[in-house]
Amino acid sequence: MAKKENWIAPSILSADFAQLGTDVKDVLNAGADVVHFDVMDNHYVPNLTIGPLVCESLKNYMSRENLTAPIDVHLMVKPVDRVIPDFINAGADYVTFHPEASEHIDRSLGMIKDMGCKAGLVFNPATSLSYLDHVMDKIDMILIMSVNPGFGGQSFIPQALEKLKAARQLIDASGRDIRLEIDGGVKAENIREVAEAGCDTFVSGSGIFGNAKDGDANRYDTIIAQMREELAKAN
Ligand code: DX5
Ligand code: ZN
Repeated sequence: MAKKENWIAPSILSADFAQLGTDVKDVLNAGADVVHFDVMDNHYVPNLTIGPLVCESLKNYMSRENLTAPIDVHLMVKPVDRVIPDFINAGADYVTFHPEASEHIDRSLGMIKDMGCKAGLVFNPATSLSYLDHVMDKIDMILIMSVNPGFGGQSFIPQALEKLKAARQLIDASGRDIRLEIDGGVKAENIREVAEAGCDTFVSGSGIFGNAKDGDANRYDTIIAQMREELAKAN
């Protein structure tokens, strides 16, 4: 399967939660493709963020505003099964989870797929891609963490590039329609080498929201245009 169209996926973890709707609208109108929605439970990761209520409100807001971008829910929650249906009912288009957070990975993936949602596995820096071995038929997204999960604003761990290349080979060998996503420390300065390692879906939190001036509806245009320019140079 040839590499897919590049998607830029702002992580709303770095948005202003007091004005989440307008932040999402502005970043999508500036050319972003996906809303990356980070769910943390203060158990699997040492931080606490947002749940299905926020997802549902955001989904409703987006449909009122005619914003059609997919919501990509990244679950950093253990155990994960209990909350999977909640997020799908709240409008998630993709649900990804960490294999360490499920006792029965195939069952969790099956739950997501059976509800008509796209499913993915997330790989921490030290987690082996071998979890994919027997479940590729249920995977729509492979998410490689380039930081240890839990916080925005951390530095990109360069070993993630080798892992992206390995995941790209697995995807190509499978011939399946699977997105390859990166998450953590992605900025305009390094997005090109991430793309060259085979990535097609780029999460960026502080790299997008951290670079913008408050109150200006066009504040994300420059940074997203810069990322696209870098992506266009990738080979
Ligand atoms: C980390 C989250 C990321 C994070 C990315 O656990 O999964 O999505 O918000 O933020 P930056 O781009 O700032 O590293
Ligand atoms: Zn994330």
